[in-house]
Amino acid sequence: MPVIQHRDFLAIPDFSREELLNLFDLAEAMRTGAYTEKPLAGKSLAMIFMKPSTRTRVSFEVGAWQLGGHALFLSPRDIQLGRGEPIADTARVLSRYVDGIMIRTFAHAEIEELAKHATVPVINGLTDLLHPCQILADLQTVRQHLGGWEGKKIAWIGDGNNMANSWLNAAYRLGFELAIACPEGYDPDASILARAQGATKVTVTRDPAEAADGAHVVNTDVWASMGQEEEQKIREKAFAGYTVDNALMKRASRDAIFLHCLPAHRGEEVAAEVIDGPQSRVWDEAENRLHIQKAIMAVLMG
Ligand code: CP
Ligand code: NVA
Repeated sequence: MPVIQHRDFLAIPDFSREELLNLFDLAEAMRTGAYTEKPLAGKSLAMIFMKPSTRTRVSFEVGAWQLGGHALFLSPRDIQLGRGEPIADTARVLSRYVDGIMIRTFAHAEIEELAKHATVPVINGLTDLLHPCQILADLQTVRQHLGGWEGKKIAWIGDGNNMANSWLNAAYRLGFELAIACPEGYDPDASILARAQGATKVTVTRDPAEAADGAHVVNTDVWASMGQEEEQKIREKAFAGYTVDNALMKRASRDAIFLHCLPAHRGEEVAAEVIDGPQSRVWDEAENRLHIQKAIMAVLMG
């Protein structure tokens, strides 16, 4: 039997700039209700969650259904992967049943291993290294509220984590300005940073105010990501002064918007006055997960 050709979405640069722009148009048609097709009719998406999730799980499951398909929630408690069945074997077996696999896991090497052995598209629902679906939803939110990212300055305040790395990948592909403020020792991935810096204006500073200065989008995330819970106390010390509050938002452009992928810790990385304030677009951002992921599924699995 010939190998079935398929494409994965493990990282934002897996799509060309033109493909990304088409994806945003499709997601926007889905958001406004202009798109009513059912490209996933008769198709199934397996969703493997090695970490918890509210938004990713619900938006992929509901999104697959809205496109005419069906999604299965698979946790390590219930499938043999959790008892040590190799990820390569899981990939081979699932590929015989389903038309796409979404996975949220720890090491990025695990999703690469899954994609290597799967013969259906694999979609990254978050790894320790990257969270590409989230940043595409964030960019859709930027487009929705600011008309686009051309000529805009995006500020990232906080950990150089999976979110920061995916913002770098987006800047690399789309060419906007990205200003990152993170404490020493919490920098983004060095090679992802270097690649983005070779393509567009990307700065890294230890001063949140410098990053926020004149920004059109101010963005943050938890200080301790999933799997880093035991570092919470150390990180609270390291990130002192990095809370996005009204004083920091005042450094940004007057019409700046605030984004956070959620879940949020009010009083840590963001003050309640900001996340619950007039510049916050976090609920639209969460909603856009549904639209952009439907667009991704339609393109890869439809
Ligand atoms: N932002 C995000 O991925 O949320 P969940 O962890 O709830 O899926
Ligand atoms: N950086 C966070 C994002 C959660 C959606 C984490 O990995 O836990």
